[in-house]
Amino acid sequence: MADLLVHPAKGPLTGSVPVPSDKSIGHRALLFAAIAKGRSRVTGFSYGEDNVSTANGLRALGVVIDDVSKTSIEVEGVGLFGFKPADRPLDCGNSGTTMRLFAGLLCAAPFTSILVGDETLMRRPMMRIAKPLRMRGATVEGEAHKTKAGEITAPLRVGPQPPGVPLGPLDYESAVASAQVKTAILLSGLYAHGVTHFKEPTLSRDHTERMMLSLGVPIRTVGTIVQIDPAGWSGEMPAFEVEVPGDISAAAFLLVAAQIVAGSRVTTRGVGVNPTRTGLLEVARHMGAGLSVEPQGERAGEPTAEITAWAAPLRGRLIAGEVVPRAIDEIPIVCALAARARGTTTIADAEELRVKESDRIATMAGVLRSFGVTCEEKPDGLVIEGTDAPLKPGDVDSKGDHRIAMTACVLGLVASGERPTRVRNADCIATSFPKFVGTLRALGAEIEVVT
Ligand code: S3P
Repeated sequence: MADLLVHPAKGPLTGSVPVPSDKSIGHRALLFAAIAKGRSRVTGFSYGEDNVSTANGLRALGVVIDDVSKTSIEVEGVGLFGFKPADRPLDCGNSGTTMRLFAGLLCAAPFTSILVGDETLMRRPMMRIAKPLRMRGATVEGEAHKTKAGEITAPLRVGPQPPGVPLGPLDYESAVASAQVKTAILLSGLYAHGVTHFKEPTLSRDHTERMMLSLGVPIRTVGTIVQIDPAGWSGEMPAFEVEVPGDISAAAFLLVAAQIVAGSRVTTRGVGVNPTRTGLLEVARHMGAGLSVEPQGERAGEPTAEITAWAAPLRGRLIAGEVVPRAIDEIPIVCALAARARGTTTIADAEELRVKESDRIATMAGVLRSFGVTCEEKPDGLVIEGTDAPLKPGDVDSKGDHRIAMTACVLGLVASGERPTRVRNADCIATSFPKFVGTLRALGAEIEVVT
């Protein structure tokens, strides 16, 4: 188990760096390549552990996947009905997306799949996908949640669907804006007889819809409503080649680091800027952060850009409403901006953070206090009192949550004192950003890895 020792920045962070491939798009590229017909190629792939969990799960289901180079992977698609039963539980690791998307993909299969994961994933709520999938006739069973009545957790038992009994139509309105729920339902809709109609309160990331559309799936979207009507559809998707854009959720840590370390200027290249993912950029700008976005064309049907961030005076703001789902994975690092802003920042409407890789409202409150920042935990967010005085070096346990570990590293850069900030249990960073430490070092940060 590795800890990181982060030294206060001695000077500005500067440079232009690539970021790892988008984790959300990586999962989807692998899944769709697996159910397409023929050999697909996914390039610009960074082998984050979560994406590797998806690849290994597909391998266990009989899909041949070749790691052809350090950044590309080829998948021999088996078509919609070509999966074979795995001879062991499918290990989704730390990846909620892998587990929830597999549940949607596998619930129509004529065999049972067992889905398991690491300690943190085994605690996360799964009724959000089980309920709608059951409503269309699928079997998705879990264990009763230890404290929440009516909730279930993994191990999940998914399928079998009895021979000759297809999944039925579904008209579902989700209480949460969740792309994992939406995608699980849409994937099951590929196998269903009848229309899938899904509505969410505000638009969550739409990578699935974009990919389905490009593969000829009869999908239509209007605002927050999405529909698949498979009548007349062959069920065949062609093999494809896709270059995965850079992950804005990874770039976020570097950009915010530049925005809070005095004198810094950092560019991240080839970053996906799908509007359903760019909430951080809007929030940072609203807070006064230095930011420019230079469009770089499209990859994988997704807009990309070069994003440059620099240090500028920050103001505390209210962050609530529709922008929150579009910045949901970036809220921990937004807390770092808030910690360095003049005045109070209130983050609200973010109760979903309680069921991420950790309870991110509680863990971030602990992280901020460890650095001497005053904050108050609310049921749906945080109230943070910013300061431009140096922070005290923190001593933080990531609780196995990659985004908490990376946020603590960034805060460590603006601490001052004799001892460095210690980020315990930092291996989890590899789930989404395997080269995080090296990238920050390349920008001028001093970080030691101790085991
Ligand atoms: C993801 C959706 C989001 C996000 C997660 C990735 C996806 O989760 O937090 O990191 O790839 O669909 P929710 O669907 O739970 O909001």
